[in-house]
Amino acid sequence: MTRTWLVTGGAGFIGSALVRRLLGDPTHDVRVVNVDKLTYAGHLASLGPVADDPRHHFHRVDICDAPALAELFARYRPDGVFHLAAESHVDRSIDAPAAFIQTNLVGTFTVLQEVRRYFDALGDALGDTFDAAGAAARRDAFRVVHVSTDEVFGALTLDTDARFDEASPYRPSSPYSASKAGADHLARAWHHTFGLPVIVTSSTNNYGPYHLPDKLIPLTLQRALAAQPIPVYGDGLHVRDWLHVDDHARALTRVMTHGRPGETYAIGAGQEHANLTLVHQICAILDDLRPDPAGPYARLVTHVADRPGHDRRYALDPSKLQRDLGWAPEVDFAAGLEATVRWFLANADWVRTVTKDRP
Ligand SMILES: NC(=O)c1ccc[n+]([C@@H]2O[C@H](COP(=O)([O-])OP(=O)(O)OC[C@H]3O[C@@H](n4cnc5c(N)ncnc54)[C@H](O)[C@@H]3O)[C@@H](O)[C@H]2O)c1
Repeated sequence: MTRTWLVTGGAGFIGSALVRRLLGDPTHDVRVVNVDKLTYAGHLASLGPVADDPRHHFHRVDICDAPALAELFARYRPDGVFHLAAESHVDRSIDAPAAFIQTNLVGTFTVLQEVRRYFDALGDALGDTFDAAGAAARRDAFRVVHVSTDEVFGALTLDTDARFDEASPYRPSSPYSASKAGADHLARAWHHTFGLPVIVTSSTNNYGPYHLPDKLIPLTLQRALAAQPIPVYGDGLHVRDWLHVDDHARALTRVMTHGRPGETYAIGAGQEHANLTLVHQICAILDDLRPDPAGPYARLVTHVADRPGHDRRYALDPSKLQRDLGWAPEVDFAAGLEATVRWFLANADWVRTVTKDRP
């Protein structure tokens, strides 16, 4: 039987990786309903590999638009929802937080309400196509995977190896992480109060192809190739745990098919690097792949005033996901970083497309 997944934010960095993965095997009997507003961060160009796939159904819809969501649920009758749509850039949340409150909180609330309406009706056999037993089986298997971030836990210090896990208390410190924390609380409340089969995932920083060039790794690449200063916040000793986006997409599909409703799963790669080290690694890879006659790219590294409230270190312990669902990261960081640099060098057209009409 065809499995239908509804993905919110499926034209963004992680969402598009997930959609490409869900549709990656042309023999799989799946449909993907991709719901995305196409903000500055969402681009159909990131879905190029699946653009002509008849199993991919893209809809330009705002997740705050309840009637539009209801219509899509009624039309496609999904077997599960991956909720990724969000405003996701910390710097933007400091400059203009309103959109973060609207999409991450009001939008998540709207998604949860519409999923709930649909899910409750699933048990009553939805009209013509399903018998009661079939509807009950679909209701049992239905899941909502709510995608969150390690940033909701606040900062770790540099003087310890401790990592956050599913039991860590929430201490968000930016408007972005506070809005994501609020969304997580809503998702859990809809499980606890209404019985919606929600699973929350929190992941560390992602990297990989199709990453918008205002995030650290692609920004460093673009600045280096343009011989412009490569900005590093403060002393550059802020540490992030870098997870390849394909490993994240594999984790999300595993959680959808094997995760337990009401549970939270932390997704981390155990690849902690200080921003400054990472930027120098990228410069060194570029020195090999596309040497600049003017000298090593590291000459462009420029320390700039630190971001307000900049968290020192994030890291997550993924033991539960490994133990309970058998997931482990597969992409080696050094190999994944070099492959990412090679991808950006080979896909300058994509970068031009996604940056040409920036607000
Ligand atoms: N990038 C990371 O390192 C990271 C790490 C952990 C968790 N996350 C979470 O994963 C999810 C995806 O992150 P990303 O990096 O792919 O983000 P992104 O900014 O690249 O993509 C977000 C997508 O959501 C869409 N969107 C925004 N507002 C919308 C709205 N109101 N209605 C419909 N669509 C809307 C955008 O058009 C875009 O396609 C987010 O929930 C984010 O909080 C990201």
